[in-house]
Amino acid sequence: MAPRSASFAHRHLVGIADLDAADIGVVLDLADRHQAIAAEPVKKLATLRGKTVINLFFENSTRTRTSFEIAAKRLSADAVNISPSTSSAAKGETLLDTAKNLDAMGPDVVVVRHAMGGAPHLLAKTLRCAVVNAGDGQHEHPTQALLDAATMRRAKGKIDGLEVAIVGDLAHSRVARSNLLCLTKLGARVRLCAPWTLLPPGLTELGGDLTRARSRVTTKLEDALDGADVVMMLRVQHERTAGEAPRFANPREFSKTYGLSARTLAYAKPDAIVMHPGPINRGVELAPDVADSGRAVILEQVSWGVAVRMAVLELLAGDVAGVAAA
Ligand code: NCD
Repeated sequence: MAPRSASFAHRHLVGIADLDAADIGVVLDLADRHQAIAAEPVKKLATLRGKTVINLFFENSTRTRTSFEIAAKRLSADAVNISPSTSSAAKGETLLDTAKNLDAMGPDVVVVRHAMGGAPHLLAKTLRCAVVNAGDGQHEHPTQALLDAATMRRAKGKIDGLEVAIVGDLAHSRVARSNLLCLTKLGARVRLCAPWTLLPPGLTELGGDLTRARSRVTTKLEDALDGADVVMMLRVQHERTAGEAPRFANPREFSKTYGLSARTLAYAKPDAIVMHPGPINRGVELAPDVADSGRAVILEQVSWGVAVRMAVLELLAGDVAGVAAA
């Protein structure tokens, strides 16, 4: 099938790895327009009228699932939500069979979240409809990186040249991987910070020469924060290490060494912003007074999530060649 739009020549959004800086710019520019609609009394566009978006979430989600649903509805698409407990996955059906059956109902987009890295890629190869990755295991979470980029661009005016610290459970974070790829493509430099036990080898190699040149690893929080423009904190993903030996002594010790507090935030630039994809574990990776301070843009991230997902759905299911080029 031919690409949907001349300015965004992709049928699916599986990972930031597949996008270049120009593609990311198209999404962010379209999201800028959609962000304005949140302030309108009638938050509705006709762009995807008659289209169907299925949210197929096999892992828990609050922000991502809801914002995809709101995004679809704001574009007048019909949105259907499916979770494993209410689907035949609970009866032993494979992911591919479930997805093929949904595809047979003629949706335009399937948004999928799955614990298995590569699940969206598998669906994109098989289904007729467009596939959007809403988080696959420890691999990628492209719309999170795009909404993070939109938030940074609005707060800082640009992304090129920013110094971004990403701190926390890098071993299990698809958010960190997608952000590393996205930010380095847009010209930022990334400091990756975690204890050795949560730091996968080769992370800076993820995007080849580009990430090798524009990212570095440190196990010292103060080093990661020193002079940073943006501090992105990540939750420890205990659900991915169930049954394994603990990676650190206890949450208090983790918080003391890697938690962002008013004291440690002082190492960053005075106007540095604090980000978190959510859900926050208050008092572990992020002190409540910092999470609730004017430095945090965490709820702005959530609001950009709707605008960015509207942009992605529109680019994959709508006809926006003219809109994006205008
Ligand atoms: C993240 C995820 O699911 O990868 N959350 C999100 O999408 N907002 C991060 C996390 O669960 O810690």
